[in-house]
Amino acid sequence: MNLIAAVDENWAIGYQNKLLTSIPEDMKFFRETTTGKVVVMGRKTLESFPGKKPLKNRTNIILTKNPSYQVEGAVMVHDLDELHKELEKYNSEDIFVIGGESIYRQLLDECDTAYITKIEYQYTADSYFPNLDEKKEWKIVKTSEENTCFDLEYFFLVYKKS
Ligand SMILES: NC(=O)c1ccc[n+]([C@@H]2O[C@H](COP(=O)([O-])OP(=O)(O)OC[C@H]3O[C@@H](n4cnc5c(N)ncnc54)[C@H](OP(=O)(O)O)[C@@H]3O)[C@@H](O)[C@H]2O)c1
Repeated sequence: MNLIAAVDENWAIGYQNKLLTSIPEDMKFFRETTTGKVVVMGRKTLESFPGKKPLKNRTNIILTKNPSYQVEGAVMVHDLDELHKELEKYNSEDIFVIGGESIYRQLLDECDTAYITKIEYQYTADSYFPNLDEKKEWKIVKTSEENTCFDLEYFFLVYKKS
């Protein structure tokens, strides 16, 4: 199972239920990596999307404790047991945990690969991804050239858990 996130220098990922920034090339990477796959997210991340709509051309699985919450085009699960039962239908390598903070933290230990876009900046933030550089079992196995978007520098990294 995979994780995918864009983080800043402090591993921040969001502020006030929004992304910290929007880098078109990173959005493209996210779309290309997850299209045709299964994406797992928390209810707040779903609601941060335009129109609060699920992502197109992907199987969207939403975690919420609210039994009456329904969204067209997405599968609702209400706890981790229900999530695991649902995920049994898919190959683990086709599953991408896409956030937010609460979901990354709960599912990190079940994942073996993390696609991290590292943005060289420190934003005001209230949501964070676990710092993989402080976890000895996670190692960078791939790093891109430096990319730029106006003044921002960023890298596409792949971490694997040993
Ligand atoms: N930079 C990135 O790559 C990236 C990616 C995704 C998100 N983000 C950012 O992350 C922030 C949101 O993160 P967040 O932690 O506040 O919210 P979140 O993880 O997206 O959603 C939290 C919600 O998920 C549901 N939930 C969580 N654990 C559950 C469980 N075990 N069982 C059932 N439901 C569960 C609950 O919904 P109910 O309240 O409905 O019960 C909870 O309130 C935003 O700023 C967003 O923009 C950043």
